[in-house]
Amino acid sequence: MKVFVLHGPNLNLLGVREVGVYGRTGLAEINEKIKELAGELGAQVFIFQSNSEGELIELLHRAGQEAQAVVFNPGALTHYSYALRDAVAAIGIPVVEVHLSNIYSREDFRQKSVIAPEAAGQISGFGPDSYLLGLRAAVVCALKEKGAGEAEG
Ligand code: DQA
Repeated sequence: MKVFVLHGPNLNLLGVREVGVYGRTGLAEINEKIKELAGELGAQVFIFQSNSEGELIELLHRAGQEAQAVVFNPGALTHYSYALRDAVAAIGIPVVEVHLSNIYSREDFRQKSVIAPEAAGQISGFGPDSYLLGLRAAVVCALKEKGAGEAEG
């Protein structure tokens, strides 16, 4: 099983960016933990970070062709990118939305995700563990879809 993990804008700065909110763990360390868990779950992960909305759209399209699920932290684009929402809706594989911070305990503008209605579900507020919980959820969703596909023949 292949799972794409997509980190959106500014997440390359984790560890130095607003450490009071996002903590001191850098993206490389988070990615290592993701790979370790993927190994335990028997999944193959492909991890990308992009600061560009267009590139994230391309990566979602690619995931739709090549992977069975996506773990996606869209960063601030979460709150206003209808183009990313449409891409999530278009690709036909489960996308698990994740956030390090609890977006519902923050500023008003962060309390709405335009992605969430099209996502398989959302995990928000557990720091780097949000990605690990997200990966577990993505694998569960992908296995369910596989089972449903096989039952249909
Ligand atoms: C974030 C929350 C967003 O509101 C913010 O713009 C981010 C990170 C999170 O992981 O908590 O860049 O997605």
